[in-house]
Amino acid sequence: MNHNYKELAKEFGTPLYIYDQKQIEENYHRLRSAFDKHYEKFSIHYAVKANPNPAVIKVLIGLGSGVDCSSPGELEHALRAGVPASKILYTGNYESPEDLTKVLESGAKFNLDDLNSFKRMISIKTPERVSFRINPGMGKGSHEAVVTGGTDAKFGIPYEKAIEAYQFAKEQGVTKFGIHMMTGSNNLEPFFFAEAVEKLLTIGGGIFKELGFTPDYIDIGGGFGIPYHEEDVPLDVELMAELICDKFKEGIVKHELGEPELLVEPGRYLVGNAGVLLSKVTGLKDSYRQFIGIDAGMNTLMRPSLYGAIHRVEVPYRSSENTRLVSICGQVCENADILAHNILLPEDIEEGDLILLRDAGAYGFAMSSVYNGRPRPAEVLIENGKARLIRRREKIDDLFNFYV
Ligand code: LLP
Repeated sequence: MNHNYKELAKEFGTPLYIYDQKQIEENYHRLRSAFDKHYEKFSIHYAVKANPNPAVIKVLIGLGSGVDCSSPGELEHALRAGVPASKILYTGNYESPEDLTKVLESGAKFNLDDLNSFKRMISIKTPERVSFRINPGMGKGSHEAVVTGGTDAKFGIPYEKAIEAYQFAKEQGVTKFGIHMMTGSNNLEPFFFAEAVEKLLTIGGGIFKELGFTPDYIDIGGGFGIPYHEEDVPLDVELMAELICDKFKEGIVKHELGEPELLVEPGRYLVGNAGVLLSKVTGLKDSYRQFIGIDAGMNTLMRPSLYGAIHRVEVPYRSSENTRLVSICGQVCENADILAHNILLPEDIEEGDLILLRDAGAYGFAMSSVYNGRPRPAEVLIENGKARLIRRREKIDDLFNFYV
């Protein structure tokens, strides 16, 4: 995925998030067809948190995807992008009465994080269907901060306690059920997903047997990883889907779970590699190390500072024949603001040059901030080779919108 970055920088300025519609489509179709081969009642719910731009949501909805939202704000993004309630899932945690009210009003399906969430919900209204997020006691992700299952995770109901929640919901008159888990993010290991599915179905088997119901859906979350650097082995989605579906089909028969829908909620896998962050060199410094300062930083792309994440750096208009060891940093007044440590880049980089950070389509703009008083960047979507502005660049004036 390469574009005319000079033109884009000239027209829209830098820093700039650039998303490629074609790449999003390819990602969606690849994942969809891998699962479709094995299980008919399968659906994808795009995790909006990865990239909530309504234009991006629209691309995925146009392909037949549903969405998964985690807050009233994300829910509103989905609704305003025109997603029908029947295609919206809501998976929050520690949901407040206000959150729950919004979910109930929207008519979306939801996965509740705890029995107490259900108790808070029924003081507003008793729903017809309930799904609980189960912590299956296992989790895996590319960094400890993104492991969302297992004994250190704040999410879901410990599986040993889940039956209580379902029993209570049944006693309150709930007649339809789902079950959910999300064990971690950016996982490149296909066998792990299958193992977790097997465990969830065993847990579900015990619950639904005692309950005397079968679930309408089993939602196994997202977490499908992407390679960020050359050494990462890409996730084999064909193999993963086969392993998951084998365990799923075996499990629903063995545990008499009927014919539930199989739901997944990927975020990163659909949009991560479809985005780049285009930035410009603002200053070169020959210090104890060589620094290249750019107009994007931890305020624009937080992942390197927060998780030590790697984003490949490219210099589109320089040859990499002669290189030198440099660190790429932003302009924020913190030493955490280093986007790449000690990498080899062309030695003739000059101030004003364009710099690309790859794989920034997921959790890039979504996690950006205005820290240090820097307004957030613009976003463009490349559709049929043409760039369309899908979020205007913030201005310094915008920073004053909220002071009273
Ligand atoms: N569903 C639920 C309930 C989730 O909590 C998440 C992500 C997803 C789906 C989508 O996960 P994905 O397919 O994108 O891995 N900011 C971190 C990632 C945090 C993910 C948290 N939950 C990062 O930049 O790596």
